[in-house]
Amino acid sequence: MPMPVLMLSAYEVEDEKPCTMLAVWGGISNEKELTITVASERHTLKGILTRQAFVVSMGTVETATECDYLGITKGDKVADKFEKSGFHTTKSEFVDAPLIDELPFAVECRVKSYDPDTWRLVGEIVNVSLDESILGENGKVSFDKFHPLAFDWMNKIHLSLGEKVGNAYKDGLALRK
Ligand SMILES: Cc1cc2nc3c(=O)[nH]c(=O)nc-3n(C[C@H](O)[C@H](O)[C@H](O)COP(=O)(O)O)c2cc1C
Repeated sequence: MPMPVLMLSAYEVEDEKPCTMLAVWGGISNEKELTITVASERHTLKGILTRQAFVVSMGTVETATECDYLGITKGDKVADKFEKSGFHTTKSEFVDAPLIDELPFAVECRVKSYDPDTWRLVGEIVNVSLDESILGENGKVSFDKFHPLAFDWMNKIHLSLGEKVGNAYKDGLALRK
């Protein structure tokens, strides 16, 4: 099934250098929480657990190559991994972690828990950051302007979303008659 392309960013253990990885095994678990499976050996996880904070941004069609690069390159082996992506960062006002300037939709989280056996990282959402460039006239995210990536595990491909096909909580009412 298609999975969201999530970019996890944190600061390094020793300094405020950003580190970032790609994860698809995760999503929002409720209004204030998200759960992501992060393998215990990931370099980015060290920063996340040290500072008890991370940012999750959605990968975009426009940055698919950069996001994929961050998912196939290990921070433990490539010291300038983040710089090579060409991304830039701004410190979050809410948590001790960096926002990626080029990714317009991000969720800032405090670590709630991490289980090294199941690899499950649970984050408490403390802020949602939306760049104005992706907002429509009604002030909500417009998918004409924002193009998140989805990932297909079987074919190992990144995909874009398609057209609007219906109205949630409404169209199904037609079958209640
Ligand atoms: C399409 C794709 C999906 C991935 N999904 C996950 C995931 O859900 N969890 C995880 O721990 N690693 C996942 N990875 C692997 C990490 O992104 C990868 O190991 C990365 O190099 C880790 O970087 P780091 O060691 O610098 O933190 C995925 C990689 C790709 C390309």
